[in-house]
Amino acid sequence: MNNFVYYNPTRIVFGKDTIKKLSQLVPEGAKVLMCYGGGSIKRNGVYDQVMDALAGWQVVEFGGIEPNPDYDTLTKAIDLGREKGIEFILAVGGGSVIDGAKLVAAGIRYHHGEAWDIVTGDKKVHLGEAVPLGTVLTLPATGTEMNGNSVISRRATEEKHPWASEAVYPVFSILDPTTTYSLPEHQVRNGIVDAYVHVMEQYATYPVNSPLQDRQAEAILLTLHEIGEKALETPPDYETRANLMWAATNALNKLIAKGVPEDWATHSIGHELTAFYGLAHGESLAVVLPHLLWHQREKKAEKLVQFGQRVFGLTGERDEVIRQAIAEMSAFFNRLKMPTKLTDFQIDPHEAAERIQARFEERGTLLGEHDDITPQEVAEILRMSQ
Ligand code: NZQ
Ligand code: ZN
Repeated sequence: MNNFVYYNPTRIVFGKDTIKKLSQLVPEGAKVLMCYGGGSIKRNGVYDQVMDALAGWQVVEFGGIEPNPDYDTLTKAIDLGREKGIEFILAVGGGSVIDGAKLVAAGIRYHHGEAWDIVTGDKKVHLGEAVPLGTVLTLPATGTEMNGNSVISRRATEEKHPWASEAVYPVFSILDPTTTYSLPEHQVRNGIVDAYVHVMEQYATYPVNSPLQDRQAEAILLTLHEIGEKALETPPDYETRANLMWAATNALNKLIAKGVPEDWATHSIGHELTAFYGLAHGESLAVVLPHLLWHQREKKAEKLVQFGQRVFGLTGERDEVIRQAIAEMSAFFNRLKMPTKLTDFQIDPHEAAERIQARFEERGTLLGEHDDITPQEVAEILRMSQ
């Protein structure tokens, strides 16, 4: 097992009727910036629950953070936060709202340049250099409620980049599974696939003798297999949604990544597909992962065999187990009504391959757990997505 440091300061408050606990979690007397998205929280009652709980606080609202949060929107929130002397940020919504709020939290306190420097990594944000932030999560998917990551899009330049800092771990996250009842089916589907791919990016690499992390990763995958289809059903079942929410958080609170190699190639390619073609995050991953695993099957062979044996109960010859494991995974995505080919979204794989290869060449990007997937190979992977 590799050396590691594990830091995770987020307090999780989980379960029904927990939004009212905001009154015990938000620092007393703090001036709060409440960030939210396009209005789902006003339609499903979450907004009212939050406002009731914060009745004694001075709350400034910032709504309109879009899916794949846009940098130009977030700079407005940063200006507002500075103008109002904001001391605490509460993000209420899905991954986009929370990721956006993380940039706002760091941007308010960054005075030596543009907040975009934070996204590009030119400005490293150290502990204490962001306004403290709490969240009320309404979409199980990203894990952002219990990590220090944030992914920001910039539509003006068709870019989408991740950044991370220990300073933007939420101090608390409220996870009330009933807030997910209003999600449209495709958002639940996107969330399940996102969580699944998070696990795969931290698991399907090469063995380093980490039986505990491997079995924790497999436990999340098996849980998603067990509950995935039921989670799409209406009316929603509380236990299923509760287990989905906790599984998605555990898929990216970084515990399963400790001491093991990580891949993240699928995410890097997926972010470009979102930037160029507007695919939802989960969709962008599902059209890449099966093809990437097949393309990289020799380097990932031992873990893919383990995946096939332990997650799907496959037996038999090595190459056949690998082939079947990837096919079973795609079939699971398809049962969730998630397409696994670019052509299913009317995107030309050859065009996508060319555009993304050119961009990665320009940036000198190398991907995968060995940093050896070249832009040329990324293009090969994308061309397989048909
Ligand atoms: O904006 P509103 O009106 O709230 O509607 C949202 C949005 O349209 C809606 N929604 C959320 N909760 C709802 C709801 N609708 C009804 N009922 C509810 N309870 O769902 C739509 C999508 O929301 P969004 O926040 O964009 O989805 P998600 O949580 O999947 O977040 C995606 C973003 O997170 C990034 C992605 O790249 C993408 O930008 N990621 C962040 C990560 C992280 N910080 O660790 C890791 C991930 O790999 C991912 O890259
Ligand atoms: Zn993701």
